[in-house]
This record gives sequence, structure tokens and C-alpha cells, in this order.
Amino acid sequence: MAGSFANQLLRWYPEHARELPWVGEKDPYRVWLSEIILQQTRVEQGLNYYLRFIDTFPDVQSLATAPETLVMKLWEGLGYYSRARNMHATAKLIAHDLNGVFPDTLEGLTALKGIGPYTARAILSYAFHKPYAVADGNVFRILSRVYGIATPVNTPAGKSELEQLAQKLVDKSQSHVYNQAMMDLGATICKPRNPVCQLCPLANRCHAKKQGVQDAFPVKTAKAARRRRYFHFFIVRSKSDVFIQQRPAGDIWQQLWQFPVVETGSASTLSQVLQLASAKAYGLQDLKFNRVDMQKQILTHQELHCSFYVLDKPVVKTKKLPGCIQVRIEKLNQYAFPGAIRSFLKRNTYF
Ligand code: ADE
Repeated sequence: MAGSFANQLLRWYPEHARELPWVGEKDPYRVWLSEIILQQTRVEQGLNYYLRFIDTFPDVQSLATAPETLVMKLWEGLGYYSRARNMHATAKLIAHDLNGVFPDTLEGLTALKGIGPYTARAILSYAFHKPYAVADGNVFRILSRVYGIATPVNTPAGKSELEQLAQKLVDKSQSHVYNQAMMDLGATICKPRNPVCQLCPLANRCHAKKQGVQDAFPVKTAKAARRRRYFHFFIVRSKSDVFIQQRPAGDIWQQLWQFPVVETGSASTLSQVLQLASAKAYGLQDLKFNRVDMQKQILTHQELHCSFYVLDKPVVKTKKLPGCIQVRIEKLNQYAFPGAIRSFLKRNTYF
């Protein structure tokens, strides 16, 4: 099967169209209602809500004059309730200020509460048959797979690239059919997981299918949830010596030196930290410490909080600490320390 992207899609569509009550609908009120409901809701869940709304409020005037409590009651269970409140406000505005007539331009529609560019383009295409592509998650998935677009879709650059491509590809003489076909292809064939490529009308031109990398698209940047780590360093002095240890392999600061440490996953009190220290057999629980310094360091994937604890009485007689060596304070600068410890040493008059 050859032809343009749009031709291949439109040849496939008539035989595979889903029967949904808003398909072919030209009443902008009904198109608007369906698009608002489907924004954050799956078709299977939204369908009955749509039918009940249409039944209760068959036109924008009846929605505009309805009591808020009834609108919210009908929306109950759909979630994202601001959608319903905005919709009600916009119905009132259209009924009262616009004579019940929906705007038929991008500017006119996006000026209304709860109508963003996506919903505006959907109304313009489905209700007014204007030559706009709609680009939602379905469309982003299809286009990123077919064209192998590696720009992450959850970035402004990726979104803009895909929206431009969508607008380039749409069949401008029948955008309403084309857009609904994209929705159906995304829902039934080019699914997020286990896409049914053997039945896809675009398989012959699909980059992801050819390379067998469907699951890699659409590309998304990982939400950079930085891991927070709390390091509690104990400066244990014995006469003119201090205890240090080498950091293990396989973690940050590999092979660098540090003071005896306890790590926690959240901010902790000194007594909590000392309990953990005793579990490591450091035997520090009978000593009196004060936290004298704290600093934060942001890495790409980690957020490090370093606390430094020193003894009330700076010199203490102590046994060897497990895993540590005792070094003379004036020799400390011969050891490589992580930046956080180095700057503590520099700033601190303790030594
Ligand atoms: N999701 C958003 N708009 C849709 C539509 N018109 N049909 C199916 N799913 C949709």
C-alpha cells in the first residue's frame, strides 16, 4: 500500500472506525463536551458520562441554566473537577454573552475558560471542518514511532516538533475524518504497549517497526526526581590524630576518603544518627557530639546533605573504629576527600 501518510491512514479508517457517539458530530457544543470529558479520561469511562450529559443538557443553554450542584453531580467520579466548573462557566458565557453561538476561530475559542489549544483545534476540526490537526498523546505516539523522533515529547521542543509535523500531515480537506482516524489508530493499533503492527496501515513507513524499537517511542525525559542522601560525618579526634576511612567502590566518591559516616534517607536527629552509628559498631554513643556544620550539594541525580559532628571535648581516648585508620591531623591534606569534606576542612577552625 503506497501513498502519503494521510492517504494510507484514510484508506484504513472506514473499515476500522470505532462507533462512538461523538464521531461525525458537527454540533460544537457536543464536540466540546466530548473533548473536555476525554481530556483526562479513557473512552470506556467517559462514554456514559457523555451520554448522560447530552441527555440532561442537550444544548449549551440548558447547561448554562443548570444549577452548579447538578453539573457537579453528573460529573461525580470523573475527577479533575475544575473541568466541570470551567465548562459550566463557559456555557454561561456562550449562552449569555455570545448568543449561544460558539466561536469558530482559535483565538475566540482559546479565550474561553477551560479551552486550550488542543480542545480549540478539536472543535475547529470536528465541528467546523477547518484544516487543523489535533495532537494529543495518541498522535505524539504514532508520529514519534513512524518518524523516529527522538526529541522527548515531554519537553517544549519535542511537543512543538510533533505539533508542527502533525499539522503538516493532516488532510486539510477532511481534517475531521483524519483526526478521528488518528485517535482510533492510536487506541486500537499503535497502543502504548503491545502495538498491533501487523495490522497497521502505516507499518511500511514506520521507523520504529522497521527497527523493532516500538517500545522506545515516544521518548520521554526521566522526571529528575533526585535521590536525597543525608551523610552524617563524625570527626573523632584522639590526641593529634583523627579517624578517616576510604569510601567503597560502586558509589559516589569512590575510593576517596571520609570521616566515619552514617547515611540516612531523610533528615535525622543526632540521637537517631548515633543509634545507627552504634549499629555500625563505631561505639560513639557514649561520646558527646555537636553538629557544627551542614552543607548541601546538588548533583544531576542526587541531592547530598552533609552534616558534620564534632566532639564537645575535642580530644578523646578511643579504641580503633572499624574500617578506619588513624592519621595525624597535619597529614590530612595528603588524602583525597570529596569536595564537601574538603570545604568543611577549609572552613573549619576545629582543627
Ligand atoms: N480522545 C480525545 N478525543 C477523542 C475522540 N474524538 N475520540 C476518541 N478519543 C478521543
